[in-house]
Amino acid sequence: MKGKKICIMAISLCMVLPYLCGCQSGQDKKTTRMHIGVACYNQSDTFISEMVGCFKEELYAGSGDETEVTVTCMDAAGSQRTQNDQVKELISAGCSVLCVNLVDRTDPSEIIDLARDNDVPLIFFNREPVAEDMKQWDKIYYIGADAKQSGIMQGEVAAEAIKADKNLDRNKDGKIQYVVLEGEPGHQDAIIRTENAVNTLQKNGIELEKLGGGIANWNRAQSQNRMIQMIGQYQNQIELVLANNDDMALGAIDAYKKLNYTESAYPVFFGIDGTSVGLEAIKDGSLSGTVYNDKEGQALAMVKLAKALVMKTRLEGLTFEKENCIYLPYSEVTIENVDEYLP
Ligand code: BGC
Ligand code: CA
Repeated sequence: MKGKKICIMAISLCMVLPYLCGCQSGQDKKTTRMHIGVACYNQSDTFISEMVGCFKEELYAGSGDETEVTVTCMDAAGSQRTQNDQVKELISAGCSVLCVNLVDRTDPSEIIDLARDNDVPLIFFNREPVAEDMKQWDKIYYIGADAKQSGIMQGEVAAEAIKADKNLDRNKDGKIQYVVLEGEPGHQDAIIRTENAVNTLQKNGIELEKLGGGIANWNRAQSQNRMIQMIGQYQNQIELVLANNDDMALGAIDAYKKLNYTESAYPVFFGIDGTSVGLEAIKDGSLSGTVYNDKEGQALAMVKLAKALVMKTRLEGLTFEKENCIYLPYSEVTIENVDEYLP
C-alpha cells in the first residue's frame, strides 16, 4: 500500500429536474446509482490530468436524468502491478464500470480477467491495447485518437511555417536540420507521430536533415535534459524541433532558456495536444504549432459510453470503428486560430 498515490474523488450528483426540488424526498423518484472507477497510468501527465478533469466536468454537466454518480480515481504512478491492484480495489468498492488508462498497453490481461469475472464493463482510454486484446471480451471498449492523423497534421503545420519564413533555414543550405523528442517507446502515439510528421514535411517539398533525437517519455523535465545535451552536441545547427507532445516541446524551449540563448537564435518548435500550457505558448509565439488532442470530445464519449453501459441503454450518438473503438479527430492549431481553443 505504501507509496501508492490514491486520489479519491467522490462526486455525488443528484441530477434531477429543478421542480422536483432535489433527491432528498426519494420516495417518488427512483435514482440510478452509478459508481465509475477511473485508473490512470500517471496523474502527473499533463494531458491525462486535463482529460480526467474534463471527464469529471462532463459528468457534473450531465444533468437532466435521475442519476447519482460517484467517481473514484486512482493513480498507478507508472506501475502496471499497482494498477492491477487498484482495479481489484475499484471492483471491490462496487464500481459498475471501469475506465482504464493502462500503464503498459501490451499487458491488459489481468485487468480484462478481473473485469470479465465480475461482469464490469471496461473502457480503455488514451493507451490503446493491441487488437487481439480488444477482442478478449464483448464488454471492452477503447476511446482515443488516430496517431497517424496527429503526425500528418504536425507535419502540415510545420511545412507551412517553414515555407512562409525563409529565415527558418538559418544556415541557408536549402535543408532544415531537425531533432525529434519522442514519447514512451511502445506507446501507440510515439513512433507513428514522428514518422508521419517527417513524411508529411518531405511530401510538402521540405528537404530535411536529421541531426538527432531522444526519448523523453512525454515529460517536460526529461525533454529539457535531453535537449540540453543535443544543443551541446549540435550547437546552433538545430533549426526545427518536432516533439511528440506539447510538454516535450515546452521542455525543449526550457532548455534554450536555461542556456540563456537569445530568442532570435531559437529554432522553431512544434508539439501535439493543445494542453493549456501548450495553447498559451502558441498564443505568446514560443510554440509555432500544435495539434489538438480533443480531450473534451474523448471525455464526453467516455461519459456517454459509461452511462449507456451501466444503464444498459442503446449506444446512441457514438461512432465505433473496428466494432468497439471510438477515435476523436485531431485538429491543427497555430497563432491564427488559437483563440478558438483558448478557454
Ligand atoms: C498525449 C501525451 C500523453 C500520452 C499519455 C498522448 O496521447 O499526446 O501528451 O503524455 O498520451 O499516454
Ligand atoms: Ca538549414
